[in-house]
Amino acid sequence: MKIQIINGPNLNLLGVREKSIYGNSSFDTYLEELRKRYPEIQIEYYQSNVEGELINKLHEIGFSFDGVVMNAGAYTHTSVAIADAIAAINTPVIEVHISNVYKREEFRHHSMLAASCRGVIAGFGLDSYRLGLESFLIN
Ligand code: DQA
Repeated sequence: MKIQIINGPNLNLLGVREKSIYGNSSFDTYLEELRKRYPEIQIEYYQSNVEGELINKLHEIGFSFDGVVMNAGAYTHTSVAIADAIAAINTPVIEVHISNVYKREEFRHHSMLAASCRGVIAGFGLDSYRLGLESFLIN
């Protein structure tokens, strides 16, 4: 099984950025643990702060991978273009968020992407990514 994890803007600063919301761990450290836990799954990782690059990555892997676990960061709330890219590809996408966006500012309550995704997971810290990945093991 091939799973692509995609992180959007500012998620390169995990472990540094707003630790009370996003935690102390860098994504690289978490990814290492996830790969150890699921050695049989090919887990690829991509991060970009640039909207068009996130779209290019979805196009690149979206016809050959088994699943995408995507945290589009703030683009979740704004990007018609990423929503269109998710709808355009064959590979199912799970939208994930580290924080419980529904407990936060109102502008974070709406996702432009969710309607094009298979499902949404929010509020479990970095484990939101593991839960997203595990959803592909049951579906
Ligand atoms: C986030 C929530 C978004 O509202 C925010 O812009 C992020 C991170 C999360 O993982 O909780 O950058 O997607």
